[in-house]
Amino acid sequence: MNERLDNLLNRALGELASSSTKEDALKVKAAYLGRKGDLAILLKELGSLPPDQRKAAGEAINRVKDRIEEEAGALISRFDDAEKAERLSRERVDITLPGRSQRPGKAHPVTQVMDEIEAIFTGLGFDIAEGPEVELDYYNFEALNFPKDHPARDMQDTFFIGPDVLLRTHTSAVQIRVMESQAPPLKVIAPGTVYRRDSDITHSPMFHQVEGFMVDKGVRFTDLKGILTLFLHALFGEKTPVRFRPSFFPFTEPSAEVDIGCVICAGKGCRVCKGSGWLEILGAGMIHPEVFKAVKYDPEACTGFAFGLGVERIAMLKFGIDDLRLLFENDIRFLRQF
Ligand code: DAH
Repeated sequence: MNERLDNLLNRALGELASSSTKEDALKVKAAYLGRKGDLAILLKELGSLPPDQRKAAGEAINRVKDRIEEEAGALISRFDDAEKAERLSRERVDITLPGRSQRPGKAHPVTQVMDEIEAIFTGLGFDIAEGPEVELDYYNFEALNFPKDHPARDMQDTFFIGPDVLLRTHTSAVQIRVMESQAPPLKVIAPGTVYRRDSDITHSPMFHQVEGFMVDKGVRFTDLKGILTLFLHALFGEKTPVRFRPSFFPFTEPSAEVDIGCVICAGKGCRVCKGSGWLEILGAGMIHPEVFKAVKYDPEACTGFAFGLGVERIAMLKFGIDDLRLLFENDIRFLRQF
């Protein structure tokens, strides 16, 4: 009996040692310890032993059974551990990978410039006014001293909606609406969207302007020069040269165009300033007496200046953008740069 037990144990240990999977180990375990396994057969034979040997033989069988159970159990739990370790390494999260961050939104370059312009003028005590984008011919032209059939109307390619209704071509229309409803003194800027039938790399059918005007007793052209120079220095830097050139607008007299030294070539002459070293940046002038009459102000009692600028043009110069259409394509890769 002892010899058979020794053989059986050795065989079992050998088979366990050569098991390469948990399934193999379970099979070996069942083959020796199962209800029809080899040890069960030996146990049945106990009854045929002489009674004085049974106890010792039974104990010997149990020892072998315990040993096989112990070895098989250890092996199976090693297979379990290995399988678990493999699964964990497969499922491991790399905590060093960067997370997916949400980029915060930010203002469009045109809005950024608009905000900056508004901040400069509100800092100088100007109020902000708005007017409708669908405007009457009267406010856009007539009251601004553009008589019907006046050639100056050709300066602006207008989108007409009806005979007397149009998309405003400039924010100057807001001047009339404000002066009609308020008495001087006035210091107002009017930012907004305007429309013209025009489209190329420097023109868009929809763009933005800021109109500004000041009306009081004794407002002079030097006030206009001072305020605009201060404004342009705040926007482009203290050292930027500013010059005023005579020009014509129906609603101002005298009228001027305002240039700054080219911010691209610092005045040396380049493609953007067409070799002149100067960039036209503003239209301005003293408000025409006919405009005051239209809003029932007394041109003998008050004077005022007005100016208007294009926001996209300023954004292009400030940010070095060479095609205006980029501003309206809403390509996120473009917009993120500002
Ligand atoms: N409204 C003009 C334009 O759109 C700009 C302008 C010029 C506005 C002179 C003014 C001004 O107030 O005085 O081209």
